[in-house]
Amino acid sequence: MFNQAPKGTRDILPSEVYKWQYLESIFSTLCAKFGYKEIRIPVFEHTELFQRGVGDSTDIVQKEMYTFNDKAGRSITLRPEGTAGVVRSYIENGMASMAQPIKLYYNISAYRYENVQKGRYREFHQFGVEAFGSAGPEIDVEIISLLSMFFERLGLANTGLNINSIGCPRCRDAYHEKLKVFLRPHLDELCENCQNRFERNPLRILDCKEESCQKIVAGAPLLPENLCGECGAHLEGVMSGLDNLGIVYRVDPQIVRGLDYYTKTVFEFVSENPGSQGTICGGGRYDGLVEVCGGAPTPGIGFALGVERLLMELDSQGILIEEPPVMDIYIATLGHKASDFAQRLVYELRKCNVGAETDLLDRSLKAQMKYADKKGFLYTIVLGDDEIESGKGVLRDMRSGEKKDVSLDSIIDRLKKSLLVAPEPCRTCPSDPTQQK
Ligand code: HAM
Repeated sequence: MFNQAPKGTRDILPSEVYKWQYLESIFSTLCAKFGYKEIRIPVFEHTELFQRGVGDSTDIVQKEMYTFNDKAGRSITLRPEGTAGVVRSYIENGMASMAQPIKLYYNISAYRYENVQKGRYREFHQFGVEAFGSAGPEIDVEIISLLSMFFERLGLANTGLNINSIGCPRCRDAYHEKLKVFLRPHLDELCENCQNRFERNPLRILDCKEESCQKIVAGAPLLPENLCGECGAHLEGVMSGLDNLGIVYRVDPQIVRGLDYYTKTVFEFVSENPGSQGTICGGGRYDGLVEVCGGAPTPGIGFALGVERLLMELDSQGILIEEPPVMDIYIATLGHKASDFAQRLVYELRKCNVGAETDLLDRSLKAQMKYADKKGFLYTIVLGDDEIESGKGVLRDMRSGEKKDVSLDSIIDRLKKSLLVAPEPCRTCPSDPTQQK
């Protein structure tokens, strides 16, 4: 088994990594336009951070964390999500004394010991944002609009936005009592998990996926109708802000989210395509979390999106991410002289940011051309003794089949002029054609 990836993990292979890079670049560009800066946090943290931050009563902390003692006996946990680590960093790095709001985004791997199934892994990846220092509904709207614009840029349809408010500790405590009064006569009919949740966190019973529990909670008192004045006004503010931007949403009183830190706004983007992996993204406000983690009381809000689930959704909607052509020219060679010349040429081309390769396996010309074709090079040129002697070769456009005589001395300039994909500006090359019109 040592030579198989552990259950719930997978390699992202070269044949698919371009899709990840594409999503990463769209997400980071968009975040930058919204004024969010990237943060990179450690893969592991002190276990206590997640116990406090994510919450002792959550499935994540109770059952799913990868926790171990390091060599000095400290309890360490692989991050099961990004929010707690970002909050720790906000406090530790004194971000509270910088210009507010602090707006951050991240692209991380995360680790949960889950029952592995479609769209549910033990190592998975999240794009996320977190914003600190702003208590009003405007930032809730900004964050939701960032996400909705991201989906729009990717061409995704049918990703429904569901929002709710789970109130503040004050109105939620009162609601818990009401909910318990409603559920108590049905306690025996609830699934085992929900029977355990009844005292610890009755709110979670609302989003249990068991049919028997769903039937019972269908008649339960609804959260939005039991909010205090402040939380009710906040929800109204989020709704009118989304209306103002024309973002379509549905208020779903049953969204409660699986992490303890949420207050007021919670939201999810859920695939409405049959057979899809449900929730692509979840988030919400966490006005008490910075304080719970040892900082001054600071409002916060964010979301995280599962990258594997997003890719599955794009796939199921038939949205193709095109593989960019990576390599520009393949120099095929016949004989040692040509091979030496090709090594130099490839080196010079690469200096000018042209993607170039030549044979490294002493293959026949036929095998070299087969390789160039498979790898999708834009151009090829064959060099043998004759070409080296005459200083001329034939450049072939692999897509059109068109052939052009070129002088080997001027090949770099010629190539750069004829390449469809403009090479990066080159600082060392005196006649950089990317500067010419
Ligand atoms: P979460 O709902 O636990 O929230 O995860 C967010 C997203 O990560 C999910 O919607 C899903 O797409 C993806 N995800 C979660 N677990 C797995 C898994 N085992 N396999 C594959 N994908 C998974 C959070 O993590 C919060 N930190 C979000 C947040 C940020 N709230 C405020 N700020």
